[in-house]
Amino acid sequence: MNMNEPPCTVSMVVAMTPEGVIGKDGKLPWGKLLQDLRHFQRLTAGKPVIIGRRTFMSDLGGKPLCGRHTIVLTRRSRQDIQSEEGCIVAYSPGDACAEAKQYALNTGGREVMVAGGAQVYKLFMPMARTLHITFVERHNGVRISGDRYFPFMRHIADPLNWKEELKGRIAEDDGYDLTLKVYHRILP
Ligand SMILES: NC(=O)c1ccc[n+]([C@@H]2O[C@H](COP(=O)([O-])OP(=O)(O)OC[C@H]3O[C@@H](n4cnc5c(N)ncnc54)[C@H](OP(=O)(O)O)[C@@H]3O)[C@@H](O)[C@H]2O)c1
Repeated sequence: MNMNEPPCTVSMVVAMTPEGVIGKDGKLPWGKLLQDLRHFQRLTAGKPVIIGRRTFMSDLGGKPLCGRHTIVLTRRSRQDIQSEEGCIVAYSPGDACAEAKQYALNTGGREVMVAGGAQVYKLFMPMARTLHITFVERHNGVRISGDRYFPFMRHIADPLNWKEELKGRIAEDDGYDLTLKVYHRILP
């Protein structure tokens, strides 16, 4: 790597309830939200995306994200993942990060995207500079339950750690309200 090049940054993209729920029974608790999927596509297009094996097998059905360099984190053998073209298997967070950064630099990019699930968010949070968060709520106010949580709710709520930026609000057709926010890490 050329030392004069600006370094790659790590960003996370996640949809969650205000309480931090991100998953239920191996899936998204709200199913497919079209507007949020479009938001995810825009944020990740052309970039390397790191994803946990469980999310890869369930939410992506074992297929790489179209038009994005998909890096699946696992401790299993490559055959278990049945990876297809456009999908790389990494056996440690360090390897996943190195692969993603190399791809970003090779393609003139500067950003590595981390797309969950809960274990993977936890591993990469110390490196993340930016969090793209969609807060998901029901129109009728009924709480959304789940069994996987974004692990840093208190940390991101502290304005000493993160600067919050509101990007917009969207009403989904199927009973959900979305609030798009970006959090920028405050560096020491
Ligand atoms: N709301 C959102 O934005 C969002 C985004 C993504 C996912 N989700 C949800 O999150 C849930 C899945 O999250 P999860 O925490 O159960 O699983 P996950 O983070 O998707 O994947 C966990 C897997 O990653 C691999 N892994 C973890 N640490 C590793 C390490 N140090 N080295 C190598 N591999 C490692 C392991 O794979 P092996 O078992 O193969 O070794 C582990 O089982 C689902 O409900 C999904 O729908 C929500």
